[in-house]
Amino acid sequence: MDLVSKYNIPAPRYTSYPTVPYWENNLSEEAWFKYVKESFTINNKNGISLYIHLPFCESLCTYCACNTRITVNHRVEMPYINALIKEWHLYLAQFENIPLIKEIHLGGGTPTFFSAENLAYLLSSIISTCNISESADFSFEGHPGNTTELHLQTLYNLGFRRVSFGVQDFDHKVQETINRYQTFEEVKVVMQKARDIGYRSINIDLVYGLPFQTVDTIRSTIEKIVDLKPERIAFYSYAHVPWLKPGQRKYTEKELPVSSEKRKLYETGKEIFLAAGYIDIGMDHFSLGDDELLTAFKKGRLYRNFMGYTTSDTKLLIGLGASAISDTWSAFSQNIKTVEEYQQSIENGKLPISKGHALSNKDMLIRQHILNFMCRHESDFNSTFCDQMLLDKTMGRLSELINDQLISIDRNKVSLSENGKFFLRNICLAFDERYWNKTPDKNIFSTTA
Ligand SMILES: C[S@@+](CC[C@H](N)C(=O)[O-])C[C@H]1O[C@@H](n2cnc3c(N)ncnc32)[C@H](O)[C@@H]1O
Ligand code: SF4
Repeated sequence: MDLVSKYNIPAPRYTSYPTVPYWENNLSEEAWFKYVKESFTINNKNGISLYIHLPFCESLCTYCACNTRITVNHRVEMPYINALIKEWHLYLAQFENIPLIKEIHLGGGTPTFFSAENLAYLLSSIISTCNISESADFSFEGHPGNTTELHLQTLYNLGFRRVSFGVQDFDHKVQETINRYQTFEEVKVVMQKARDIGYRSINIDLVYGLPFQTVDTIRSTIEKIVDLKPERIAFYSYAHVPWLKPGQRKYTEKELPVSSEKRKLYETGKEIFLAAGYIDIGMDHFSLGDDELLTAFKKGRLYRNFMGYTTSDTKLLIGLGASAISDTWSAFSQNIKTVEEYQQSIENGKLPISKGHALSNKDMLIRQHILNFMCRHESDFNSTFCDQMLLDKTMGRLSELINDQLISIDRNKVSLSENGKFFLRNICLAFDERYWNKTPDKNIFSTTA
């Protein structure tokens, strides 16, 4: 059996450990705030991160796995923004001094669904309550179809220097099937506007494994994108989770490239990125030579949290908005997913937590190894892996990956091979004690290949 078929199993993307389905939900609001306060006291001097989830989109891209609310009614903007500001004030009341903000990321849904004026109101309401770090890193996700010059300029004036545009694919048949349209010209124009205004880093999201994608169609999309020279490219593996996202039933599984076909799409993309001077950072991320993400990767200072890869080692991430996840380093919490329930909870002065988890010492140990693999492509058993039983069990699970030359082991250090990069999720899975103690009995994760 080829390696792609062998390792094509459901697995998490490890933006956290434990992954959300394995959280024990052992946190009350009071306990959560205690973790927040402790983390704030320790970490505020180096700065904290804010993630703001803006869930609205005007139309549904049927492939989409994000937490979205589809509407063309823009009157939803202000009530939601007011709830976000109130939620921030619930946190502010816990902090013993003024927060120092190191990172802000606006994610979605589509942040540029909101008017520039409303975004300015939201952000200035938050920023005016904080100090801003000198090395602050503010970024947002924009849809090329609705990001205006005013959005770009307004957010730039508020300190935003990085923007990520979703593109996914330019092929007409693929776009029609996933109900997601934007032309090359639109992307080119919006990127140029961002550059003219002064944005220093532009990311483009592409997805491989979408319905009707072929090697030829993906080559054509990617060649166009690399011509535009975005500093970063996220080349995501399509996550097929129709049991969670019924929109994905708009096409059939027969229309999806899978296994070795899907791998070929990835390899085609990777070849073009490398030839164009991009470096493979891991987990579907490519970066150009002078981008901060690549510099951080080379210096061993790349990190990963719920926002994906980041250069900021902040240990307190506050997530605001429906479905947003927060991380104090010793505990996680996730907000309620539906907009109405989220707003209602805030209206009642109650933090809208739906799930949480306090990390055990063993969780922290395993998280470190998973982070090491995700961000540095190696992990050292000597320095951190002190639990012998865990070590024995993990080594047992790694042996198959060693035989298949996806990783190599030298004394106590396990390192990723070039071929192993495609299987990073499988390698992290070998460390995931909670998964092996209770392997999922129903679909919860997308497959790795
Ligand atoms: C919130 S969206 C980006 C911003 C904006 N809404 C847009 O579409 O341009 C975040 C990204 O998640 C990725 N994504 C969404 N659904 C996915 C799926 N099913 N599999 C893999 N990646 C997915 C897409 O690349 C998308 O650009
Ligand atoms: S891909 Fe972006 S625009 Fe499309 S539904 Fe998902 S979040 Fe909304």
